[in-house]
Amino acid sequence: MTRIKFGEQTFETENNETVLNTLLRNNMQVPYGCKAGVCQCCLMRSLDNVPPEKSQVGLKDNQQKQNYFLACLCEPENDMTVALPNNEISWLEAEVIEKTDLSTNVILLKIKSKEPLAFFAGQFVNLRRDDGVIRSYSIANIHNAEHELEFHIRILPNGKFSRWVADELTVGMLLSFSHAQGDCHYVEGKIEQSLLLIGTGTGLAPLYGIIRDALSTHKHQGEIHLFHGSRDASGLYLEEKLTTLTQKYPNFHYTPCLSGEVNDEKYTKGRANEIALQAFPKLDGWRVYLCGQPEMVLHSKRAAYLQGASLKEIYVDAFTS
Ligand SMILES: Cc1cc2nc3c(=O)[nH]c(=O)nc-3n(C[C@H](O)[C@H](O)[C@H](O)COP(=O)(O)OP(=O)(O)OC[C@H]3O[C@@H](n4cnc5c(N)ncnc54)[C@H](O)[C@@H]3O)c2cc1C
Ligand code: FES
Repeated sequence: MTRIKFGEQTFETENNETVLNTLLRNNMQVPYGCKAGVCQCCLMRSLDNVPPEKSQVGLKDNQQKQNYFLACLCEPENDMTVALPNNEISWLEAEVIEKTDLSTNVILLKIKSKEPLAFFAGQFVNLRRDDGVIRSYSIANIHNAEHELEFHIRILPNGKFSRWVADELTVGMLLSFSHAQGDCHYVEGKIEQSLLLIGTGTGLAPLYGIIRDALSTHKHQGEIHLFHGSRDASGLYLEEKLTTLTQKYPNFHYTPCLSGEVNDEKYTKGRANEIALQAFPKLDGWRVYLCGQPEMVLHSKRAAYLQGASLKEIYVDAFTS
């Protein structure tokens, strides 16, 4: 058991509890998003002891030297005095310009930034509500002069943020968002390389951005294979657009997969990752993108590596999709 001093108050951690969970259990208002070390929303600073190495993974060298850490990954080994970073995360402002249904439980949200943006399609940003609730969403569109960003947001029945997007967020409202982060994006320089993209649910969002970036911005010449998986056909929410894309670009191939009942032969029966990895047993020299359900991503990453893909060429985004 260790003690966490935050402001004037001190809390004791329970078994292997993270700093974030200790603070939340004690009703402290601290920002967080993914709780998995990805979004960096929970950045904090230790004012005394050096934080555990594991909690500094992905932070810049100068942040590590100054004892910044991710509270969601930090299981303290010693007592710590912690503080929120001042002005470490800068937020931008955007206006909601479109909100439409892509399916019964996926919304297309478009926002327009007030400032020019630097991003790659497929990266993610953190969206923030006025009350401080923050969630990460992948960028599904390519760079544009209008400073617009598009997201595919799956509505979880009791999801704090996604339910709010569905029920309360309207066109014209303002939303804060972070700069784009993450390495799940198209990489220039290997125009002939074969690309394999596997996604479940809204794991399609970053993949759709990457595919359009490859085809229309970079004129990618290698074969691009997308496998999108869902339980039923309503989850294949971009079927029409992706089919149209295959007609325009002969090197782009789209396989919609259903893990539930299949009554139409245009769909492949089974799990998208299993079908894709069976179809391409040798992945030496390929670039592989895996987005969606964490178990699928983890399992497929291992399989893709065993089938010859270099770990440096496997890009992942794991989230409930
Ligand atoms: C890098 C990154 C990129 C992401 N990109 C996207 C994206 O492009 N599109 C997208 O939709 N999401 C994306 N996410 C997930 C997103 O950030 C949120 O976690 C998600 O929208 C849920 O937030 P919420 O506040 O609505 O739900 P919360 O209130 O946070 O609840 C989520 C929790 O509710 C539970 N839950 C409730 N209902 C269900 C249900 N029906 N099915 C499964 N679990 C349920 C789950 O256990 C889950 O842990 C991304 C996450 C990360 C880390
Ligand atoms: S909440 Fe800690 S990194 Fe996302």
